[in-house]
Amino acid sequence: MSGRWTTPENRGPKGLLCYNVHNRRPSTDKLPNIENPLNLIQRNTSGGNLLALKALRRRVLQQPVPIYLVGGPVRDALLGRPFNDLDFSVEGDAQALAQWLAGEIGGKTVFHPRFGTATVIATESRTDLVMARRETYAHPGALPQVTPGGIREDLARRDFSINALAIPLTGDPPPDPGQRVLDNWEGLDDLRSGVVRILHDESFIDDPTRVFRAIRYEQRLGFRIEERTLAQLKNAVDHGLVANLSPDRLRHEVQRIFEEEDPGSALARCLELGVLQAVHSSLGKLASLGKLALSNLNALEPLTVKMDETGSERSMVYLSAIVSCLSRQEGEALISRLNMPEAWRRVVRDTIHLQDITDDLNDESLSGSQLARLLESLSIEAVSALWLTNGNNTVCQNLHRYFTELRYVEPALDGQDLLRLGVPPGPLVGQILGRLRDDALDGRVTTEAGQRRLVEELMAESNANVGAKAIRDAPHG
Ligand code: CTP
Repeated sequence: MSGRWTTPENRGPKGLLCYNVHNRRPSTDKLPNIENPLNLIQRNTSGGNLLALKALRRRVLQQPVPIYLVGGPVRDALLGRPFNDLDFSVEGDAQALAQWLAGEIGGKTVFHPRFGTATVIATESRTDLVMARRETYAHPGALPQVTPGGIREDLARRDFSINALAIPLTGDPPPDPGQRVLDNWEGLDDLRSGVVRILHDESFIDDPTRVFRAIRYEQRLGFRIEERTLAQLKNAVDHGLVANLSPDRLRHEVQRIFEEEDPGSALARCLELGVLQAVHSSLGKLASLGKLALSNLNALEPLTVKMDETGSERSMVYLSAIVSCLSRQEGEALISRLNMPEAWRRVVRDTIHLQDITDDLNDESLSGSQLARLLESLSIEAVSALWLTNGNNTVCQNLHRYFTELRYVEPALDGQDLLRLGVPPGPLVGQILGRLRDDALDGRVTTEAGQRRLVEELMAESNANVGAKAIRDAPHG
């Protein structure tokens, strides 16, 4: 199929036809309750978000202010998907409206003056209010220059047609069905067809972070990146626009992929389209591992439960999975490319260290204390990722043992108990605690009574050694 590519000027009347595209998601004739989209949203909103929505609807009834629900919640509600935060676009002073809303629902307001936006944060909700605006970009990857505009301009500056939909806040739905969802870019058709489509050729040039966004939506929604959009996306990657993004913006996009419900499929798609390689060339190694790397990434998903069992932060397990084939030097280069914070750095370094000690872990005869010593100082996410992706049975069994048993083993006695048992304060306390822990890990002494006996024996041994030393060191007359 040739790409549909229309501009508002040459676009024909909107129909309800379905496009016969070969996307992975069957196209749907009907989006749910398009008749009264605002009520659909309200019915699916609760808690603090509902309070905010109702307050803004009241405000519109009292005094006609052009307020529109826009972006993600509109897209998700029309697809029948759950949504969280509400985003509004206001033709006028968004910050003043935010202040009013904060007073109504009880919350605090955070302003972002550069973009004329404000966020109202209340106990159970986060409401974004943006000033309807037009945007221009000084150069690719730059933050946009903004000037106030109307809702049409505000929709025209957005990334994809499926995000360029707006629902006007009104009391009753407008009598003209065409007014109920503002759709200048055939976003409704694209929602029906399952297509991610940019609004104009320069979209990825204006904002190369949209490369990541396109892939996230495609994978999350089971959509297909429309042909011409895909060509522009590849063009942007090939021309180094992704590679030129600042470290912080790049890391933010990578983080958002990690936070997806299925990061594995989005990461695999990034790899397929050369996007991970544009983040850092060393990540291309994942591609050279071919299917193995892709299936490893995808394999993480069904193992989420296991991941949760380990208490790992999910997104960091994915970070570990994508850096596992890097050398130490490449890891350091990636750390600085993404200006990684400490928690990320630790995961990267520990993941690479784990690759170095995989041979040590591939040993059936490792005792509990030896295993714990190899792993306990390492980030749990790095160990988790190795457990979830490593194909070697012995390594996996050892990691399983570590996660399910050894990690929780602590001696019954603590330092205070040792002092009460007469151990003198000083290094001996730490040494005896270490010995108690090793014996517990190796299953030699596991009960409190046994540990008390062991302390007494060690004390007696130590006293005997001290006595013997005193005799040895005493001046001989
Ligand atoms: N947007 C955009 N270009 C970007 C970032 C955001 O056009 N680079 C617009 C889109 O219209 C998007 C809205 O700003 O819908 C809000 O952005 P964000 O919260 O990032 O996206 P959501 O659509 O809410 O998506 P998600 O479900 O991933 O949070």
